[in-house]
Amino acid sequence: MDNEEGAAGWPEPVVRVQSLWESGLATIPARYVKPESERPNNPNKLVGTKKKKSEEEEEEEEVEGDHESKTTMSIPVVDLSSPCDPATARAVSAACREWGFFQAVNHGVSGELLRRCRRAWKGFFHLPMEVKQRYGNSPATYEGYGSRLGVEKGAVLDWGDYYFLHVRPPHLLHTDKWPHLPPDLRETTEEYSREVASLCGRLMAAMSAGLLGAGGEARLAEAFGGEEAAGVCVRVNYYPRCPQPELTLGLSSHSDPGGMTVLLADDRVRGLQVRHRAGAWVTVDPVPGALIVNVGDQIQVLTNATYRSVEHRVMVNAEEERLSVALFYNPKSDLPMAPMPELISPERPPLYKPMTFDEYRLYIRRKGPRGKSQVESLKAAGGDDGGR
Ligand code: OGA
Ligand code: NI
Repeated sequence: MDNEEGAAGWPEPVVRVQSLWESGLATIPARYVKPESERPNNPNKLVGTKKKKSEEEEEEEEVEGDHESKTTMSIPVVDLSSPCDPATARAVSAACREWGFFQAVNHGVSGELLRRCRRAWKGFFHLPMEVKQRYGNSPATYEGYGSRLGVEKGAVLDWGDYYFLHVRPPHLLHTDKWPHLPPDLRETTEEYSREVASLCGRLMAAMSAGLLGAGGEARLAEAFGGEEAAGVCVRVNYYPRCPQPELTLGLSSHSDPGGMTVLLADDRVRGLQVRHRAGAWVTVDPVPGALIVNVGDQIQVLTNATYRSVEHRVMVNAEEERLSVALFYNPKSDLPMAPMPELISPERPPLYKPMTFDEYRLYIRRKGPRGKSQVESLKAAGGDDGGR
């Protein structure tokens, strides 16, 4: 069915990016060519580690207010070895205010589990195409093997395939929809998501304490509807090699619609770029063993934009494929999300209209990744977030 128009609810026949790469084409189909303004302008040197700059050199670095990606600025690194220490809450909170993105080290998830998780999913994407096709997804739930985000006919597509699955709440956990192979994939993914969801609980407490003081540690989790009710889903991204990486993106600019995201990035191949406040695209150089954390739109809404979700995108390259595992930690999906009362004052009125996450996530599912346009559209009439 996958090759028929409208198959499984998609507006057009589904084309696997991996199949395009495997067909050996020298130029990418027009469907994947981005308008000039969205193309990465510096697709080289994605592989390998970058020389660490001294602190002085880093301080001298100027951020340019345009689309340049040559800056050597980097997202902060936060040590989580003492999660209950007020200094940890301060560091997490500062990273969420200033960047909305950071690399967590000493996060408590074992390196062995991170490697096992990557290995299992690489194994899945390297299975024969006819095996993967059995898990083809539809836009109704997105669960399964997919190759596009959004259902608009004629949309420019991203150079990547993915696998999307639900872990929590329990009634959405259908491991029978998860790949059967490699044999350890299901067990590994369950273990990985359990460990990372628990890390999200610790991060929520630190974010909350950093915002409201130690007494307010549980407030963000409460606003999510309680830890038991929080939603957890996983998107494993597979970016095949690309013959013309300068013309396309693996994932277009977007902010994550949910609460918080923890990303297990590829340990060898760079590609993730984060948009700095001043407009520059900053390439993330993953610290070995780190997990990358970012604020999603729902936390921006709850914190009345004290913590902000940040645009990010993925570049592809001609030399290496890239795999990443994103775990999304979301509020209870039928609870209207609105700025927390503690963060509202006459000087700082609520910036956003309440909306449930079930309703909110339909936007990206219909329109695909579109920068920060969705959270902008939630702005309450007369609300001014100071140009953020
Ligand atoms: C995502 C995402 C980044 C990456 O899945 O939302 O931003 O590096 N992924 O794959
Ligand atoms: Ni993302």
